[in-house]
Amino acid sequence: MNSTIERIKSLKKEKNAIILAHSYQNIEIDKVADFVGDSLYLSQKAKETEAEIIVFAGVYFMAQTAKIISPEKKVLLPNLNAGCLMADMINSRQMAEFKAKNPNIPVVCYINSTAEVKSQCDICCTSSNAVEIVRSLNSPKVLFVPDANLGKYVESQLNGVEVITYEGCCPVHDDVTIKNIDDARAKYPKAKVLIHPECRPEVSSKGDYIGSTSGIIEYVKNSSDKQFVIVTEKGVAERLRRDYPDKEFVLISEKMLCESMKLTTLDEILNSLENEINEITLDEDVRKRSANCIERMLKVSK
Ligand code: 13P
Ligand code: SF4
Repeated sequence: MNSTIERIKSLKKEKNAIILAHSYQNIEIDKVADFVGDSLYLSQKAKETEAEIIVFAGVYFMAQTAKIISPEKKVLLPNLNAGCLMADMINSRQMAEFKAKNPNIPVVCYINSTAEVKSQCDICCTSSNAVEIVRSLNSPKVLFVPDANLGKYVESQLNGVEVITYEGCCPVHDDVTIKNIDDARAKYPKAKVLIHPECRPEVSSKGDYIGSTSGIIEYVKNSSDKQFVIVTEKGVAERLRRDYPDKEFVLISEKMLCESMKLTTLDEILNSLENEINEITLDEDVRKRSANCIERMLKVSK
């Protein structure tokens, strides 16, 4: 076995550590990960674990979320430059301005946001539970930050709820066009088209299935179809090809690559775990306030 992998595995035991990995990570990281999945699944695991150290193979907001809900644990992000372009589209001041412009309306924040933004919101959501979370508020209007595409997708799924969105997006998913989907359908008429709701709503509406990374993987698991067009980051298509060699997976575009997600390497995981570096820290007041909106989400989405 590769010595880096062996060393990481033995350090995990020695230090009572776990590794959480998002499905967009470099695929070799799965060899050392305890759990691989979407944002909701990983935040549930971060909350449940009895490990003393969590190494988060993902992007900054994911590791920060783990620290918010498990403050007694040491949370390490192997590469501190692994940010999220969408989360960086709204800062604390912009959040306050958006609320001031739209007063007295419940505020939902997508988990792809900073702790400072979360601390000003009522409830958090992920791509797998956004519809359920907005529905749970029972309000005719909600504010939704930062992903306008996901917010508008949620609105399309709920009768009589107005979702007022902040103008953020994931540039990787926002780039997909209706023409891309139409071309793929023409080329692969038998394929099922599986789309992440960070795509534009007019694109998402063309999918046979719309859901989070784990939702897409689950759909394939339960499907007897043999061919799929994958409309999310390429890590999902790579894992599906590995796990279902008898099925065919077409990635909608080779541009579906989240560069931040690919910054983490096995060597960096080893380095951060061995030396316990790149620890996530938070102001305790911000942590407590942002914990409220995540805990509230975890109660709705068990
Ligand atoms: P998931 O909720 O599917 O993990 O999506 C997170 C993300 O960043 C997608 O771009
Ligand atoms: Fe952020 Fe987009 Fe990367 Fe997801 S794919 S982590 S939303 S930049």
